[in-house]
Amino acid sequence: MLPVFRPCMGKEEVDAVAEVLTSGWIGLGPKTAEFETKFAEYLAAPYAVALNSATAALDLATMLAGVGPGDEVIVPTITFVSTAHAVMYRGARAIFADVDRETLNISFADVERKLSPKTKAIIPVHYGGRPIDVRRLKQVVGDRVTIIEDCAHACGASYYGQKVGSEGNISCFSFHAVKNLAMGDGGALVTHREKDWDRAKRLRWLGIDKDTWTRSDANRKYWWQYAVPEIGYKCHLNDIAAAIGIVQLKKLDAMNGRRREIVRMYTEMLRNVVETPPDDTPEFRSAWHIYCIKCKKRDDLAVYLQSQGINTGVHYYPIHLYDTCYGTQPELPVAEAEMKRIMSLPIFPDMKDDQVTMVCEQIKKFYSTK
Ligand SMILES: Cc1ncc(COP(=O)(O)O)c(C=O)c1O
Repeated sequence: MLPVFRPCMGKEEVDAVAEVLTSGWIGLGPKTAEFETKFAEYLAAPYAVALNSATAALDLATMLAGVGPGDEVIVPTITFVSTAHAVMYRGARAIFADVDRETLNISFADVERKLSPKTKAIIPVHYGGRPIDVRRLKQVVGDRVTIIEDCAHACGASYYGQKVGSEGNISCFSFHAVKNLAMGDGGALVTHREKDWDRAKRLRWLGIDKDTWTRSDANRKYWWQYAVPEIGYKCHLNDIAAAIGIVQLKKLDAMNGRRREIVRMYTEMLRNVVETPPDDTPEFRSAWHIYCIKCKKRDDLAVYLQSQGINTGVHYYPIHLYDTCYGTQPELPVAEAEMKRIMSLPIFPDMKDDQVTMVCEQIKKFYSTK
């Protein structure tokens, strides 16, 4: 079965893990710190805090933004549930915004409609890896509203020549098993503010001011002492995952380059068959985590492709329709219409040209009999 996603791991990652496993330190320690420094350097951002997921990063980000009961936070409805759950963790209200029909990124026009005096923050998602125009969004929401970028799909994407997530807002990355930079599970919170960096490092480690690695420094006096200035969580990265991340980071641009080649092939072969996603522009370069087509008879096509050994996905069922968690929400017509047509095709760096061709041929074959 051809999967939709597949991590691209090799001997270097295996060796890196072996080195950590035999080092005597496998928890939060020097590899995590090294990954943080290298990831921040890669983005050209001052501070990164490594966590166990993007969900944790979004959770801490809403804390840093001071979101609390009575506040509203705008989120796009087409995203993974973590984006909206992070608002609920704070006891605040998620206000769902519709998406742009072409890109499936948050609709700025709908954001304008959803802004209110209670809006504390907004969490735009760079859907599929395609950057939203963060500078324009800032003009739309103004200085009063904190922008928390959900960059889970956008590791390595760029925007006006700079990496997505480096703009100076709070940015949240995922290194989950099938993300562009994969570690099994992992995440990062990126910030330009030293104060937020400091606090996020405490919050990931139960609110304790000094982690065990720092306290293990042989030159430290009273190494057993620490303070607990606030209640935090247990959501830091560990050195085993970080070691994988250090290797993956070196390969990230090349892996994303291969994704771009696959995208070029798909779009060339499918342009006249289904609706293909918009191409990159010189200013907006997607990380192509997802290759999302829009098509007629989506469900039948999915079943047909599966019968031919090709898995596909639907990213995502609009969250505002999960009424058990979110109650009855106002209609979001674009998302509700597009949800019936979207299909994610297989895309991963190790995918071979003939596999891409095979997917396209099967799609053409399906439509030729319809
Ligand atoms: C848009 C988006 N945000 C957040 C997350 C959460 O990431 P993680 O699995 O690292 O918690 C995901 C995961 O797929 C995602 O797609």
